[in-house]
Amino acid sequence: MRILGIETSCDETAIALVNKQGDRFVVEKSILSSQADIHALYGGVVPEVAAREHSSTIFPLLKKLDIPANGEGIDAIAVTSGPGLVPALRVGVEFAKALSWLWNKPLVGVNHLEGHIYSVWLNEKAPSFPAICLLVSGGHTELVLAKGEGDYEILGRTRDDAAGEAFDKVAKLLGLPYPGGPHISKSAKAGNPSAINFPRPMLESGDLDFSFSGLKTAVRLHVEKNEDSVEDVAASFQQAVVDTLVTKTLVALHRTGAKSVILSGGVSANTLLRETLQEAVEYVNEEVTFHAPDLSLTGDNAVMIAMAGAVRAEKKEFVDPLTLVPDPNMKLN
Ligand code: KG4
Ligand code: ZN
Repeated sequence: MRILGIETSCDETAIALVNKQGDRFVVEKSILSSQADIHALYGGVVPEVAAREHSSTIFPLLKKLDIPANGEGIDAIAVTSGPGLVPALRVGVEFAKALSWLWNKPLVGVNHLEGHIYSVWLNEKAPSFPAICLLVSGGHTELVLAKGEGDYEILGRTRDDAAGEAFDKVAKLLGLPYPGGPHISKSAKAGNPSAINFPRPMLESGDLDFSFSGLKTAVRLHVEKNEDSVEDVAASFQQAVVDTLVTKTLVALHRTGAKSVILSGGVSANTLLRETLQEAVEYVNEEVTFHAPDLSLTGDNAVMIAMAGAVRAEKKEFVDPLTLVPDPNMKLN
C-alpha cells in the first residue's frame, strides 16, 4: 500500500510518500517546509498567516515528489483533518480532496494525535498493545491508552496550557526566541536543575490530568523577584515539567499494566524527558518497552500521517472526498 500523506494542521507544510509492506513502513519521499521563522516574528502561530503559507507552499512540495499526473502508483491519500487550526487544516484538507477526486483515489482523514502515536512505528521495534502514549506538543498534553489499532482511551490531559506551550511561554518571559522548547533545553544544559524548587503541578490530584499554567506563573513570579541566571531558571523549570510528565506516565502504566510506553509530539525532542522517561519505565518494569520517535519525526510531519492513514486505509476506513471538513476538536476514538 503506497500512501500519500499531507499535514497542514499548524505551522509545518508537509507531504510524504510511505509504502506499508505488511507490518513495515518504508518512507519513499518526505518533504517538509517549516514556517517557524515567520511565526517567530509574532511570538506564536498566527492561523491566517499559517494558512496563507500552506497555500503557497503545498503545490510546489507536491511537484517535488514527481508523482505522475494521474496519481499512478498511489493507493490512497491521507490528510490531517483535525485537531488543529481550522484555516491551516482547511488548506491540506481541500488539497487532498481535490487530489482524491482528480486521481480517483480513496481518502483517509487522519487524527493528528494518532499520527503522533504512529511516529514511532518507523523504529526497529514496533510497540505492543496495550500501550501508554504520552503525547506532548505545542497544542496537546495527553495520556492515552492505546488498546489496539484505532482503539484509544484518553486517561488524562492538560486542564490549561500544553507542555510545549508552557515551554514556549516560559521561554518568552526569559527573553528566548519562539519556539521556546529547544532554546530552554539548550539553555538548561548550562544550568542547575535544583537551583529553584518550582511546583510539580497536580501530582497529588489522584487523576492523570496535567496543569502547566500555575507552573508558568510560578516561574514568572520568581523571575520578577529574583536574580537567578536564565540557565538556572530554564533547568529548574524543565526539571519540574519532566518530573510531572514522568510521574503521571508511570502512574498510568501502573494502573493499566500496559506493555509499552510511547512518547511522542514536539516536546518528545527534549533529551531530558526522553532519557528520564526511558530510564524510569525500564526501572519499574523491565518487560515494558519504551518508544520515542526519531528526532526527525518528533515535530509535525507527513510521514506519521501517512503511516496512521495506511493502517486505516487497509481497513477501508475511507471518507467522502466531497464532504470531508476539518474538525478542530477531532477526538481519538
Ligand atoms: O508537535 P509540534 O511540532 O507541534 C504541535 O502540534 O504543537 O510541537 C511543537 C512544540 C513547541 O511548543 C516546541 O517548543 C516544543 O514542541 N519543543 C520542545 C523541544 N522541541 C520542540 N519542547 C521542549 N524541548 C524541546 N527540545
Ligand atoms: Zn503535532
